[in-house]
Amino acid sequence: MESLIPTDEPLRQEYFMSEVNDIIHTGAIDRGKYPTYKVVTFGCQMNARDSEKLSGILSGIGYTEAKSEEDADLVLFNTCTVRENANDRLYGRVGQLKKSKEKNPDMIIGICGCMMQEAEEVEKIKKSYRHVDLVFGTHNIYKLAEILFDHLKTKKQIVDVMESADMIVEKLPNKRQYAFKSGVNITFGCNNFCSYCIVPYVRGKERSRKPEEITDEIKGLVADGVKEVMLLGQNVNSYGKGLDEKINFAMLLDEVAKIDGLERLRFMTPHPKDLSDEVIEVMKNNKKICKHLHLPLQSGSSAILKKMNRVYTKESYLDLVKRIKAAIPDISLTTDIIVGFPGETEEDFLDTLDVVKQVRYDSAFTFIYSKRSGTPAAKMEDQIDPDIIKDRFDRLLKTVQDIAAENTKKNEGKCMPVLVENNDEHLEGYLTGKLENNLTVHFKGGKRLIGEIVDVVLDEAKGFYYMGHIQTSEE
Ligand code: 5AD
Ligand code: SF4
Repeated sequence: MESLIPTDEPLRQEYFMSEVNDIIHTGAIDRGKYPTYKVVTFGCQMNARDSEKLSGILSGIGYTEAKSEEDADLVLFNTCTVRENANDRLYGRVGQLKKSKEKNPDMIIGICGCMMQEAEEVEKIKKSYRHVDLVFGTHNIYKLAEILFDHLKTKKQIVDVMESADMIVEKLPNKRQYAFKSGVNITFGCNNFCSYCIVPYVRGKERSRKPEEITDEIKGLVADGVKEVMLLGQNVNSYGKGLDEKINFAMLLDEVAKIDGLERLRFMTPHPKDLSDEVIEVMKNNKKICKHLHLPLQSGSSAILKKMNRVYTKESYLDLVKRIKAAIPDISLTTDIIVGFPGETEEDFLDTLDVVKQVRYDSAFTFIYSKRSGTPAAKMEDQIDPDIIKDRFDRLLKTVQDIAAENTKKNEGKCMPVLVENNDEHLEGYLTGKLENNLTVHFKGGKRLIGEIVDVVLDEAKGFYYMGHIQTSEE
């Protein structure tokens, strides 16, 4: 008999969603309630967006969201493997859930995302974490319903990790964390192979989505109440390569900014080696595009940058910053920096401090170099002594914090638009929101303002954030 299961996507997943939905529905009648899920996300905005897709599939098949992982019927860990400590934290959490599963034997535990693209991690789960039921990687998150179906039918541990991405599956459901803002993928994967970075191995070759898929998704989001969109890619500048259409990132930005109803547009992450003047021009001329650039430096030493395979030098990075600041004087710049890359000397580190002082970032994510097996840097000699790294890290952090505090101080008293995001968790009656440069502001206000863009006076700078008040009509 011919199989009724469709082979084409997304039809195939829609079929499995409907099958699992039937199973869940029947179970819910027996138990008197629908089962609950919790997706736990580690890592970057890409993972956050993937988690929204996973949540969308789970909601679509009848799960409701649980408050905590301990009392959920299905827990899914969406993992990150960019640094070693993320792996350690994950295994702690998965181990703890063993007790919850003893109390609730029907509980389903899944692990997906970047870490699962590493064969040794999958082996570790198969051997030592038998209470984990679902294992899949970054390339087939769209297959969650099918993987879950296989587990429900067999009650076995299902491991489904694909070596590389066979296709981009569009148009499956997703459930946004925020009603009013959303990430939108424009590229997947990375072709840069920075020598310390595991991402190209776990996220695969770079692929661009078609421009009309992107603009259609954003139009749909805007119709659904989204005001702010962040375009996501490991290196957004290389958007368009490999597509039939002649399009680059600057053209896409311009196109997206034209969408009616969209109020704020951001992107993450541009690579300094190919941030074009065209992109700077589009940013300058488009009011909707936030005047903020996250421009990962990684190191200020040309020698280390060469070993990192970053393809720019200290001088060319500073020249790029000069061009950006000349075109957009009020631009806010933020960055990522790695301390303790193999072979980093005191002079190399002083070059990093020098760039930080010249660029004057509004904030910076500072990381201690983490050796990732399989990357070229893991085999390099001259791994740096941890005490030296700690000392450099502390000096870097102090410099970054002092400059950020001076920068934020300069904006005290100014009135700026803020997208209101949440009730303040620590201050009763207060809200928190984000400035165009992504810094946080806390101010008094009612929760009906959540999702609105309001003008806030920045009363007091507190380092990386502000206390403020909503501008009154007399001000
Ligand atoms: N060690 C430390 N930091 C790293 N990053 C990427 N790989 C490593 C590593 N092996 C940092 C980079 C990157 C950010 C997302 O994570 O700074 O920009
Ligand atoms: Fe990693 Fe470099 Fe690609 Fe960023 S650009 S994901 S740091 S390889």
